[in-house]
Amino acid sequence: MFNLVLFGPPGSGKGTQSISIIEKYKLIHVSTGDLLRNEVSNETPLGLEAKKYMDLGMLVPDEVVIGMISTKLDENTEANGFIFDGFPRTVAQAEALDNLLEFKNNPITVVLSLKVSENELKKRLISRGEVSGRSDDNEEVIAKRIKEYHAKTAPVSDYYKHKDKLVEINGEGEVSDVFNLISNQIDTFIIA
Ligand code: AP5
Ligand code: MG
Repeated sequence: MFNLVLFGPPGSGKGTQSISIIEKYKLIHVSTGDLLRNEVSNETPLGLEAKKYMDLGMLVPDEVVIGMISTKLDENTEANGFIFDGFPRTVAQAEALDNLLEFKNNPITVVLSLKVSENELKKRLISRGEVSGRSDDNEEVIAKRIKEYHAKTAPVSDYYKHKDKLVEINGEGEVSDVFNLISNQIDTFIIA
């Protein structure tokens, strides 16, 4: 089993690259952002609670997202592997994920960290905001999301660095060039 964490700040291309990765390597895509937006649009109790945080650009409480991940893993017991996109986002989430995967005897294989400059992140998210309809793609909320990233999510990369699982990828440049860099890394672990 191959378990990949695609790590990076808001706008670094996690969602974009996940689409090509799941297609090539037949992995199950687990995006907490997508799962949460789905709950919001279905107006579930979880969604209504999560929306308060998302609209402000703040992280949703750990127990909410950890519960969603646990359900998703249980629903896909036959998977070749998972790609975690936008999760884990705090050290507590990373520890919880390790515990869930250890229980299933399939630890995280590698963490690919997309590096993109802050100016480029803002530029990408502002222009996506013009078409996406996402409630958090406006200048004020983007700034808050990037601040949350530095305060709570950046430490997750140290967590994986200490475990020797972190590989940095240049996330700037053409989407296809970034995908080639990612594929080269994945291919050191599995052959598609
Ligand atoms: P989430 O949905 O995860 O959003 P995010 O991390 O802020 O990241 P984005 O989805 O905006 O960016 P991305 O890296 O996927 O980039 P993308 O490929 O779209 O989270 C939203 C909210 O949900 C959070 O704020 C929080 O409230 C909550 N949440 C989610 N997970 C949580 C968790 N685990 N714990 C707690 N709360 C959680 O690309 C961005 C744009 O750039 C696109 O328009 C794309 O076309 C473009 N682009 C991509 N690559 C390139 C390239 N190489 N060159 C030019 N443009 C590019
Ligand atoms: Mg995304």
